[in-house]
Amino acid sequence: MRADPVADSLIEYRAQFPALETCVHFISHALGCVPAAARDDLNEFFELWQTKSISAWGDWLPEIDRSAARIAKIISATPGTVTMMQNVSGVMATLASCFDYLPERNNVVYEATQFPTVSYVWQAEQRRGARCVLVPSIDGIKVETQAMLDAIDEHTLVVPMSHVMFASAYIQDAKAIIAKAKSVGAHVILDCYQSVGAVPLDVVDLGVSFACGGSAKYLCGGPGAAWLYVRQDLIEQFAPRVTGWFGNEAPFAFTMPEQTYAETMWRYLGGTPAVAALYQARAGQRIVGEIGVRKIREKSLVMTAACIAWIDELGFKLNSPRADHERGAAVVFDFVGSADVCRELGRRKFYCDHRPTAGIRISPHFYAKAEEIELFFGELKKIRGGRGR
Ligand SMILES: Cc1ncc(COP(=O)(O)O)c(C=O)c1O
Repeated sequence: MRADPVADSLIEYRAQFPALETCVHFISHALGCVPAAARDDLNEFFELWQTKSISAWGDWLPEIDRSAARIAKIISATPGTVTMMQNVSGVMATLASCFDYLPERNNVVYEATQFPTVSYVWQAEQRRGARCVLVPSIDGIKVETQAMLDAIDEHTLVVPMSHVMFASAYIQDAKAIIAKAKSVGAHVILDCYQSVGAVPLDVVDLGVSFACGGSAKYLCGGPGAAWLYVRQDLIEQFAPRVTGWFGNEAPFAFTMPEQTYAETMWRYLGGTPAVAALYQARAGQRIVGEIGVRKIREKSLVMTAACIAWIDELGFKLNSPRADHERGAAVVFDFVGSADVCRELGRRKFYCDHRPTAGIRISPHFYAKAEEIELFFGELKKIRGGRGR
């Protein structure tokens, strides 16, 4: 199968991403394409600063809740259950600081193929009494759901897991894992960075305790606008030790010496928020919200299937799941010399990336044209002197 023309109502959104005219942008799993409107939004931030000085905060601060509301719509969260932070590492560190480790309940269970930044945070928690239990992957692509379920028991405190694996785009059975965690009194933190904006999410239906992600990838919002969801009934149950004055019930009352946590999601905030990133992320979040992730997913499945057909035809090793229901929005494949070929593709403005032991990752997002898949693999073949494997 070649890249069959996709019945593609989403291509009209391409015009909002002029950068696409100068490249083949298959790297939205790492950095979504910049929407033209991000320039206007950043300019608005700048103008407020220039014209209103300190009183710009009156406009800037509400942007936290506005940004959170856009995310809430995308992940089907109840209003008031999301807030904005700077990155997923910071979210994890804040959540880790909510927990105490008792000898009988100190296990932190996650995949051995987890995104490293998340692992680094929880490994450091071992200094405070956590015990990390890493569930191995048998083939480097998937972690068996049963292996995750078996690792979660009455000693498990928290399961900081990926919804979609960064190195293979494997979609975990989050629902089953969350149900098991709940049944033994453990909390799941679902890292949705590789799914938000590309794979439909309903955090309420999942019943997950916490979810997080960022805006840099499929949300096309650039770095610095990460988000945290906390299940409504849990919001006030936790008091993060990693905190700051914006987590206070009245930051501008300057009360001393102890923290009095806000009753809202702001209790998870720390110091002064990085507001410019929220302006920068606005357009991408808005566009994804407007299209709806279901439509994005429909197109993505057709596009990634077309990529897999090329990968098979060229005899490369597929390092992503074949089954639609297990495959996120990226496709990963490998061959000898793939890192060098990836570098050359980037030099020629066919944007993709390479991960050690996984290979080349590509992700045609909603703004990609079907014929770009043919262009991409054609260029890859050219770099290899016309060869497949
Ligand atoms: C699953 C996942 N989690 C987290 C991150 C990044 O975390 P941070 O926002 O701390 O840079 C990435 C990729 O950058 C990722 O793919």
